[in-house]
Amino acid sequence: MAASCYGVITMDGPAGVGKSTLARRLAAELGIAYLDTGAMYRTLGLRLGSGAADLDEERLRSRCREYRFSLEPCAEGGAPQLFCNGEPVGSEIRTERAGRLASLVARLPVLREELQRSQRALGEGSSLVAEGRDMGTKVFPLARHKFFLDARPEVRAQRRYLELEAKGALNGATLADILRGIEERDAQDRGRAVDPLRPAEDAVIVDTSDLDLDGVLQVILEAVRTRGPEEGGRKVPMVCARACASASDAVRARIRSSEGAAALEAARGDGFAAAAAVAERHGVTCAVRVAFGLEGGVLVARAEAENVPFAGALALSAAQTAMASLAGFLSERLDVNAVLEMEESGIGD
Ligand code: DC
Repeated sequence: MAASCYGVITMDGPAGVGKSTLARRLAAELGIAYLDTGAMYRTLGLRLGSGAADLDEERLRSRCREYRFSLEPCAEGGAPQLFCNGEPVGSEIRTERAGRLASLVARLPVLREELQRSQRALGEGSSLVAEGRDMGTKVFPLARHKFFLDARPEVRAQRRYLELEAKGALNGATLADILRGIEERDAQDRGRAVDPLRPAEDAVIVDTSDLDLDGVLQVILEAVRTRGPEEGGRKVPMVCARACASASDAVRARIRSSEGAAALEAARGDGFAAAAAVAERHGVTCAVRVAFGLEGGVLVARAEAENVPFAGALALSAAQTAMASLAGFLSERLDVNAVLEMEESGIGD
């Protein structure tokens, strides 16, 4: 099965459930990238500090946009790693302080919006295992494979205790202290006002309490392989929508600027969010792709959705919203019009 067929595989769950190890191993088994979204919150937590909570929305948004995340191979042939502004994200984010700051900034809606936008951009058109708290519910609601890992708090505390003990990093903490910490973080993650931790309705819930890591990995691999790739990599009918607007030279120049690149990414994110909202309303799951191009004198947003019920509504709202969001960035007034098309195309091949 070609690696590019899997699309996005989401893996969510509470702290200390073994998600990171499993997500990394799953990605390696399938030969696809691993996206650790907790690392993105930790990075912004460290870079922006606790003062982030006092910034007004506009200032916070522009501070967030100073940091661009990418997935890039570190060594030849190696798995892609998370980079921030061209530098690999390293072990500096694995401290208690970084964890505390991450948890603080993760409550800020603007910061979440900005990170969710980059996460969608990283997942677009590629196959990866995306790990976090809101991957299946918020960031990739249309993902074909969704997992939610859980385990009894006592089991998670025991695992964490043994891990710290093996590293000689207990620092006097008892099992009861660790259990209390885990229960506090659970309450924080599940009770948060924005994007609280919960399983997506269509997620496979795996209770890891009584399974070892290899056992859990086998359960997940089995589920991914049974469900198959996105339509087996076959040519499948796609419903496409195009939203177009004429573009002057000034518009083209703005689009080619680095600010324009950020606007394209933001517009794409808005398009996905619009398609996700339509999908949620209709209770369907379906992959949507959004791409932009300049065709002659015309700026085109093109959205494609697998041919499922309401695919037309999904594709159309993705293309229209993406283009409208782009038009909002461009100072010129653009007349946006949209059309629906049907075509045979290869999703995931
Ligand atoms: O998984 P982690 O411990 O590295 O996550 C760090 C913090 O970021 C944690 O407080 C939860 C938060 N987080 C989040 O709110 N949403 C995500 N998708 C990932 C992490």
